Amino acid sequence: MKGIILAGGTGTRLYPLTKVTNKHLLPVGKEPMILNPVRQLLSAGIKDILVITSKDHMGAVVQLLGSGAEYGCHFTFKVQDTAGGIADALLLAKGFVHDEKMVVILGDNILTSSISPYAVAFSEQKEGAMVLLKAVGDPERYGIAALDEHKKMLLCIEEKPCQPKSCYAVIGVYLYNPDVFDVIRGVSPSHRGELEISSVNDWYVKQGLMKYEYYSGDWTDAGTFESLVYANELMLSRDNIIENSS
Ligand code: DAU
Repeated sequence: MKGIILAGGTGTRLYPLTKVTNKHLLPVGKEPMILNPVRQLLSAGIKDILVITSKDHMGAVVQLLGSGAEYGCHFTFKVQDTAGGIADALLLAKGFVHDEKMVVILGDNILTSSISPYAVAFSEQKEGAMVLLKAVGDPERYGIAALDEHKKMLLCIEEKPCQPKSCYAVIGVYLYNPDVFDVIRGVSPSHRGELEISSVNDWYVKQGLMKYEYYSGDWTDAGTFESLVYANELMLSRDNIIENSS
């Protein structure tokens, strides 16, 4: 299984912090933000990792991560020239992934317990994709999953809905089979001009090919000032250690 960290985008919500550095290099706890997704992939035994980032401050990202020798893994780097959306960034991974399964993590997502059990479950899933859900108090900010919990079935996934159908956010950890690249090619840009990962995920839902699990640890994004502060509180209290999932 391959690992992909999406660390492109512009980081405008954290301006002016992101004027002088890449969002994913900002501190979370005692480390730069991007090391949390790196450690997550390592905790799942994934050692071949593609990092996709923007041109801005790319050199600093490479300077931090290097070849991967320091972490016992191998990094490959790719540039996303313009912030065309999460699914647009993922398209750049096609040649890297070939015909393997993949775990995709957003570079600004911070998780406290290992994703390993979900990667193990997905390695046995023959087709389709898997998303991880977490209940949130502000569902308008996220991709939101409507579901029939009784049948353990997803009904739809909507990006930042004005009238959310549930409180379950789709967190920024996505598990795909390699057909995801064909799915991305079939989706249209949203009203904000981005290829949305929620459109891709909703396609799998509509085909009956999307599985889900509830993420058991604490999770936050770190893309706003408020969530960046919370991410710091979460990781400082744990000394940046990713716990084994129970
Ligand atoms: O944090 C989870 C949420 O992340 C999901 O619930 C949403 O469905 C998903 O769309 C995303 O929402 P955000 O509005 O928080 O996404 P944002 O634009 O902040 O991008 C998150 C990360 O994705 C960012 O840190 C780097 C990567 N990214 C984003 C864009 C737009 C790229 O690599 N390239 C891009 O063009």
